Amino acid sequence: MTQQSNHKPLKNDRYLKALLRQPVDVTPVWMMRQAGRYLPEYKATRAQAGDFMSLCKNTELACEVTLQPLRRYPLDAAILFSDILTIPDAMGLGLYFETGEGPKFERPLSSMADVEKLPVPDPEQELGYVMDAVRAIRHALAGEVPLIGFSGSPWTLATYMVEGGSTKTFGKIKKMAFSDPAALHLLLDKLADSVILYLNAQVKAGAQSLMVFDTWGGVLSPAAYKEFSLRYMEKIVAGLIRENEGRKVPVTLFTKNGGQWLEAIAATGCDAVGLDWTTDIADAKARVGDKVAIQGNMDPCMLHAPAERIRQEVATILAGFGEGAGHVFNLGHGIHPDIDPEKAGIFINSVHKLSAQYHK
Ligand code: CP3
Repeated sequence: MTQQSNHKPLKNDRYLKALLRQPVDVTPVWMMRQAGRYLPEYKATRAQAGDFMSLCKNTELACEVTLQPLRRYPLDAAILFSDILTIPDAMGLGLYFETGEGPKFERPLSSMADVEKLPVPDPEQELGYVMDAVRAIRHALAGEVPLIGFSGSPWTLATYMVEGGSTKTFGKIKKMAFSDPAALHLLLDKLADSVILYLNAQVKAGAQSLMVFDTWGGVLSPAAYKEFSLRYMEKIVAGLIRENEGRKVPVTLFTKNGGQWLEAIAATGCDAVGLDWTTDIADAKARVGDKVAIQGNMDPCMLHAPAERIRQEVATILAGFGEGAGHVFNLGHGIHPDIDPEKAGIFINSVHKLSAQYHK
């Protein structure tokens, strides 16, 4: 028996269909970081909330900022407004944001002893505010478009937890990887268990699709990528609820700069791979398009170009993927804060308009 849902039926399901490589009328599109500082209404709500984490923890305002881009643009999916660093915060590392410097931790990890002490957070307790946001957003969406839940990959979360914040060199985490691999593996394993619980709780709270952000997998050698990042994403995929409310819950894995490992990512059992702009989408489709859907892959900086250049780039990417099911259009990474919102609208409308010819 599949679970019955109290939710309104989904009006626009082309995003879910495309992830499962089923036919659609036009190519679905959403933007990573679609709720964010490029929108004046986001900045206003954020100012009302105070700091970024207060915004994430305020159910009503987190719901409001999730919906803001959907009021402006005909997006085919909503993404939970939260952050990947909620899990390390719930593990007790003390997350804070310093203006202009990105995320930081008060108590970064440096040894096996630190890792052994880490708890696996209960998603309905320490992370209950995220589940409250999922429930509120799903209700407010009223079936317009599906809701994406997400998490960071264990490797990407571990980089912030060991470095204590953002890094250019990844010196501390790589030191742990190569001088004390047992400590890092224990950390990655605890994170994988935490991510499984967290994502499954998001599904139970109403998320209809899941995405894992592996922003920093691409800084590893091929062998180290498989050992420290991919292996744990594979464990996550195997532990997730894949069907809920009588529908498949598709899973997308996104390793930024992971283009050379697409076959290995596709073999994890995920439904879709996220692609950044450094891999040609036609090449990606030829390599893995018979196994998984592909999400991507316009360079977010292209949104600085004149309208005609944006349309041309969208047309080139659509032509690269060509006919057939299994493409979700997106940027290759998050939208930047200095983008003109009008350009985002041009991008989204171009995807719908120019893709109809590939779905006859
Ligand atoms: O896509 C969405 O609209 C959903 C919300 C979302 C945020 N962060 C909101 C956010 C998602 C999916 C994330 C994921 C995330 N967070 C990732 C993985 C994706 C990626 O971009 O690579 C990473 C690495 C983080 C960690 C993180 N959070 C950083 C590095 C920063 C600072 C960046 C900056 O521009 O200052 C954040 C903060 C953050 N997360 C903001 C938003 C909208 C900006 C906070 C603000 O000042 O309002």
